[in-house]
Amino acid sequence: MKQYFGIDIGGTAVKLGIVDETGRVLLKGEESVSFDGYQTPVLTTVRRAAKEFLTANSIPVESLAGIGVSATGQIDSRKGIVAGTCGNFPNYIGSPIKSALEEDFGLPVTVANDANCMTLGEVWVGAAQGCTDVIGVTLGTGVGGGILTGGHLLEGARGLGGELGHYRTHALDGVDCTCGAKGCWERYAATTALVRAAQEKSPDWKDGRAIFAAAEAGNETVLALLDHWTDEIAQGLAGMVHIFNPQLILIGGGVSAQQKLLIEPIAAKVKASVMPAFAEGLEVRAAQLHNDAGMVGAVYYFRQTMEKE
Ligand code: BGC
Ligand code: NA
Ligand code: ZN
Repeated sequence: MKQYFGIDIGGTAVKLGIVDETGRVLLKGEESVSFDGYQTPVLTTVRRAAKEFLTANSIPVESLAGIGVSATGQIDSRKGIVAGTCGNFPNYIGSPIKSALEEDFGLPVTVANDANCMTLGEVWVGAAQGCTDVIGVTLGTGVGGGILTGGHLLEGARGLGGELGHYRTHALDGVDCTCGAKGCWERYAATTALVRAAQEKSPDWKDGRAIFAAAEAGNETVLALLDHWTDEIAQGLAGMVHIFNPQLILIGGGVSAQQKLLIEPIAAKVKASVMPAFAEGLEVRAAQLHNDAGMVGAVYYFRQTMEKE
């Protein structure tokens, strides 16, 4: 059975894994990319971590069919480079991920945006199996997006397509975004937006976990914050539903396990705010692959682009 090297480059860590041709993760590891405040270029850390991972697990390069990389930021998937990043992410933009890893391992390499990969991973072996029209979003520090339309990943001209976090839901009166624009959906829909609002009420509510715990305990203030946050998420999604007419909206990120307090309210709000014809048959589900989604999806992207007839 064929085996692939899946690599998922995030804002704070790189995840590495061996994924087989059925999408099963056989082995995995993780390493910080921010350990020295990004002084070491992210790609330098990734190259070192990748070599060490194979050596430590005694995996011969010859046993691998290729390398699929999932990476945060605006990824030019044609060239396999980081074409852009938002905000203060030093020593990452411009990284020639594809050519560097090809040189190191002598294997074919593909690189694609992390949320695009997450969406593909869920289609392959996760919550979106059998679906052809999907909007995938990841809620975290930022908001990532991936669009599957007619069974194909929407990539656009350079592979940058599906950057849903920077869809402008508050274009004219919005807050500044790390991308330089105003009113991007990410500023309102990311988990960090919820945490920012909660911190203004209480220093105890410092992360998603603490906030959802307070909500489960019935705290009215937190419930009101969650209600506003899910409104912001749903309003952005409603606009996208009208463009792409998905059958499924997939919600990923650390908070996506919150069925009652997150997934269900989002589903109800999106359905209530789109034109009725778009709500028919529309489902909203939590992503299933969690931390593995990026590497598994990156391998699926590799297989689709490098091995298709
Ligand atoms: C970036 C996206 C990325 C997402 C999740 C956003 O801030 O603009 O490229 O997919 O974060 O990592
Ligand atoms: Na994307
Ligand atoms: Zn933005």
